[in-house]
Amino acid sequence: MRVLAIETSCDDTGAAVILDGRKILSNIVSSQVPIHRKYGGVVPELASRKHIESIVPIVAEALDTAKVTLKEIDGIAVTQGPGLVGSLLVGLSFAKSIAFARGLPFIGVNHIEAHLSAIFLGEKPPRFPFIGLVVSGGHTSLFRMDGFGKYRRLGQTRDDAAGEAFDKVAKLLGLGYPGGPIIDELSKTGNPKAVRFPRPVLSKNSLDFSFSGLKTAVVNYVKAYPEPPGGYPEDLIKDIVSSFQEAAVEVLVKKTVQAAQCQGLKRIVLSGGVAANQRLRQKIREESFEQKLKVYLPSPSFCTDNAAMVGVVGYEYLKRGIRSPYSLNAFSNLPL
Ligand code: KG4
Ligand code: ZN
Repeated sequence: MRVLAIETSCDDTGAAVILDGRKILSNIVSSQVPIHRKYGGVVPELASRKHIESIVPIVAEALDTAKVTLKEIDGIAVTQGPGLVGSLLVGLSFAKSIAFARGLPFIGVNHIEAHLSAIFLGEKPPRFPFIGLVVSGGHTSLFRMDGFGKYRRLGQTRDDAAGEAFDKVAKLLGLGYPGGPIIDELSKTGNPKAVRFPRPVLSKNSLDFSFSGLKTAVVNYVKAYPEPPGGYPEDLIKDIVSSFQEAAVEVLVKKTVQAAQCQGLKRIVLSGGVAANQRLRQKIREESFEQKLKVYLPSPSFCTDNAAMVGVVGYEYLKRGIRSPYSLNAFSNLPL
């Protein structure tokens, strides 16, 4: 089955053609970073307008690259939420229109479920059940996954998402947007032990996260050093971001491993934009090795937003005969 998948939940316009839920025939992502960069974050109104401009050429490019026409597509999958509602509506309305015009089966997909399923695009996907960590700009949650559609949330952030904390710290230090990849790069030559920022673990047994205290600790640390006329010395910046990253990564790894141990599961899957972070990938590998757990990491381009992962989930539902109605709406807070 060939599924045309569409993703417009935030600031990336994505379209992909996926064969049997696993093989990528095309996967096109058009990033809006240059538009939002000067504002230091995503401006929802600008994002939805840009999706309107991009959706037709991006879907056409996905079909061309896959060397198929709409006649050879068997179903349409599209992100229904969570995300920015104006952005979601562009992809959803477009997907519904194609499905209706061509009489194709159509399914709305949860964006978090799509992130958790990106791992099935890799060479050796995991067997169920496993622990899934979604760690992105909008979400930081731990799930027990027993199959497609069979999820139990074990914990989530009580305030900021991890990616949001990366982005806010980078903004505070004037490093640019999006902050995650910039901090990832700068941290490589910084000292992660330079500043002992707090590791918010909440209570001992809790699998919830909290990143706003860590972010505030960075703000307070920086405020204690009035900015010199030429800006903060580069080495100081590198030490601060590296120490911040180390604290965030340590908490993410600790709780993910704890979740596996509590549930008696041996497999861990990471997903979402922050799962592209090199220190997080290294640390979860090391810790999993020590704890005799097996960790599965999607390649970095499948961690950040893309339509291929939407195609994986869409296929799983469409092949079971599950369809969405044409009245389907977009929801900014769609739960999983
Ligand atoms: O999954 P995603 O593309 O969109 C959401 O669903 O939110 O994630 C975007 C988030 C941003 O906060 C970005 O700064 C962060 O993922 N991110 C990273 C890295 N690459 C992207 N954070 C840390 N290290 C990275 N290498
Ligand atoms: Zn995402």
